[in-house]
Amino acid sequence: MDYFKSMRFNIREIRSLDSTNLYAHNELSRGKLNEGDVIITYNQVNGKGLGSNRWESEPDKNLTLSIIFEPDFIPASRQFALTQFVSLAICDVISSYLKTVTSEPVKIKWPNDIYIGNKKVAGILFQNFIRGNLIEFAIAGIGININQEIFCSDAKNPVSIFHHLKYRIPIDDVLKNLLDNIEKRYEAVRDDINVDYLKAEYMNNLYVFNLLVVYKDIDGQFEGRITDVDEFGRLIIRDKAGKERKYMFKEVELVLPNT
Ligand code: BTN
Repeated sequence: MDYFKSMRFNIREIRSLDSTNLYAHNELSRGKLNEGDVIITYNQVNGKGLGSNRWESEPDKNLTLSIIFEPDFIPASRQFALTQFVSLAICDVISSYLKTVTSEPVKIKWPNDIYIGNKKVAGILFQNFIRGNLIEFAIAGIGININQEIFCSDAKNPVSIFHHLKYRIPIDDVLKNLLDNIEKRYEAVRDDINVDYLKAEYMNNLYVFNLLVVYKDIDGQFEGRITDVDEFGRLIIRDKAGKERKYMFKEVELVLPNT
């Protein structure tokens, strides 16, 4: 782990934790964490997913970590930029391992699940602390399935990098690549938060973008295509009748194809 000492990331490795996000949250509220601090465990026993979901991770097989940002250059109204660049970094890193072994693309399922083909390989749990129009702190909790072979929870469609490679890769290697990529992207956003490249790259890497698929919202199922994700992170779907529908997170769900 000495490699990281020269970087702006400061790694706090804890052998066993209930949840890196929970730990980070508690430490932040005691003023004990700052930008660039990374909490990592190789035995997360009560990982949190979105809403009431749990995040399953077998000890020593995967990456489970939380990164602290103090993105004072990103207005709170543009906090979706965080989602965009962290998702893209994870996509890049996973793709780099799979390039030669699978034709299944690594994509971002809106807003920030990472998929290989039709299966979920990584998830992100953001907790942003907003004051006025400032993001004081953001916790980016990242789980990437790397070497796990069997998943026991009732998660719909988990997959790991191992399932595609058929051999194990060093978790530290993925961590190094991930932090390098996140740092590079974070600095690019710091240089210019208004550039369109982030949106363009996010859209280019979006799962089922522009494909006619089945969605479900409060009124039931319908067929439609994603046409855009706006700067606030709202998903825009044009249904078969040509009507544009706009959704915040959790207001619409993709009805996954059978895998
Ligand atoms: C999701 O897709 O539901 C989000 C999953 C996020 C899991 C990660 S693992 C590290 C961090 N600590 C947690 O308790 N959750 C996040």
